[in-house]
Amino acid sequence: MEIFDAIAKRASVREYKGEPVDKALLEKLVDAGRRAPSARKVEPWEFIVVTDQKALKELGRIANTGSFIKDAAACIVVYSSDTKYYLEDGAAATENVLIAVSGLGLGACWVAGDKKPYASEVSALLGVPKEFKLISLIPVGWPLKEPCQEKKRSLADVLHREKF
Ligand SMILES: Cc1cc2nc3c(=O)[nH]c(=O)nc-3n(C[C@H](O)[C@H](O)[C@H](O)COP(=O)(O)O)c2cc1C
Repeated sequence: MEIFDAIAKRASVREYKGEPVDKALLEKLVDAGRRAPSARKVEPWEFIVVTDQKALKELGRIANTGSFIKDAAACIVVYSSDTKYYLEDGAAATENVLIAVSGLGLGACWVAGDKKPYASEVSALLGVPKEFKLISLIPVGWPLKEPCQEKKRSLADVLHREKF
């Protein structure tokens, strides 16, 4: 899919068909994530691909704003080491994954990680050392229905020329 189509069609998908997603496609998504820009080229990210059904159910239970993780074929969990720009770098990687998801016709949703009280429980489940920050959980699956576009602020509303 053309890049601007993939961006325009991206929407949070929280309902999935109960079909698996190929390992190669999941790797493609992580490959997109790792190509994000990072401050001082630190590349602080780590990506955990979870496909085990029991673990997905546990993630959905622990991360209560992402209970739908339990229905996904996989969840890509993005971590950053605790660098100065860990959040910006991790967010850039997350968005790269989401655009790649859209480009492949898959569905996903950014589930909050950083600042959430459940972050430490997610890390314990996945065996992540304490010094790493949970950036996001990205459940991935084949969309159950056509992704529903939320109304966005218009270009005219957000675009300023030369000055605010
Ligand atoms: C930092 C961040 C955290 C988010 N956390 C959650 C979450 O925990 N659960 C959820 O269902 N959606 C979450 N979302 C998805 C937003 O609700 C969604 O992006 C927003 O409603 C716009 O819809 P769209 O993604 O379809 O454009 C999060 C998005 C961002 C950027």
